[in-house]
Amino acid sequence: MSTSPVLVIRHGAVAYDRPVLRDVNLTVTSGEVVAVLGANGSGKSTMIRAALGLVPLAEGEVELFGTPLRRFRERRRIGYVPQRLGAGGGVPATVGEVVGSGRLARRGFPGRRTAEDRQAVAGALAAVGLTDRANDPVASLSGGQQQRTLIARALAGQPDLLVLDEPTAGVDAASQEAFADALRDFVARGGTVLLVAHELGPLQPVITRAVVVHDGVIAHDGPVPHPSGHHAEPGHDHVHPHAPQDPPSIWGRE
Ligand SMILES: Nc1ncnc2c1ncn2[C@@H]1O[C@H](COP(=O)(O)OP(=O)(O)OP(=O)(O)O)[C@@H](O)[C@H]1O
Ligand SMILES: [Mg+2]
Repeated sequence: MSTSPVLVIRHGAVAYDRPVLRDVNLTVTSGEVVAVLGANGSGKSTMIRAALGLVPLAEGEVELFGTPLRRFRERRRIGYVPQRLGAGGGVPATVGEVVGSGRLARRGFPGRRTAEDRQAVAGALAAVGLTDRANDPVASLSGGQQQRTLIARALAGQPDLLVLDEPTAGVDAASQEAFADALRDFVARGGTVLLVAHELGPLQPVITRAVVVHDGVIAHDGPVPHPSGHHAEPGHDHVHPHAPQDPPSIWGRE
């Protein structure tokens, strides 16, 4: 069995009009659920986008499943859910269609939908609790349900690595719980997860490691830091939905 890490970033640097990430070193191994935490604008999205080759590295290198990024061809092994759903575009796709599109990379074009495709889509819908909405237009769903649809699309592709950028931002508590269960299930089947979050909430018990990005560098890599502020108080059970403008309080002020 291969012991190659799932993802490695070595001395990664990214610059847009100015440097945004510098000397980022990150290794994610099979079965981990790694949370990337940090303030707005610290470089979290840039880091995971660089890891997937969506933004170029100015310095350093990335390996996916032991293969340098520039030679990596097995994109189907990765499921990616970006930070925000793009503007609707007016296409009245149903939930089932969107989730089914997660199977496209696994089919030859114009490949026929197989029983395996149908099973994977049904399993992904069930994992996020949207089975009964499969025939509804995505536009008729709440923001949290739309986010779950995108997560189901990524799950339907049966990736080995799931990369999610703020999958629970602005998502109601029930959706967060459903998502935490789906992640548990995904990892139990051998998956690896890298996700960006501001507040872990119900995800906290699923997370095996936290990476805190501060001002373009990794400031912490290890156990999940203790929450601070009112979230640290006993009895605060994180069942309420957080407003998007809530300050990131998970990695405290010491
Ligand atoms: N395409 C881009 N062009 C220029 N600058 C960018 C671009 N994308 C991000 N930036 C800048 O890079 C920095 C890091 O952005 P990034 O989106 O990675 O942060 P983040 O930690 O994900 O923030 P948030 O929590 O708000 O999602 C910010 O200063 C941002 O303005
Ligand atoms: Mg971001």
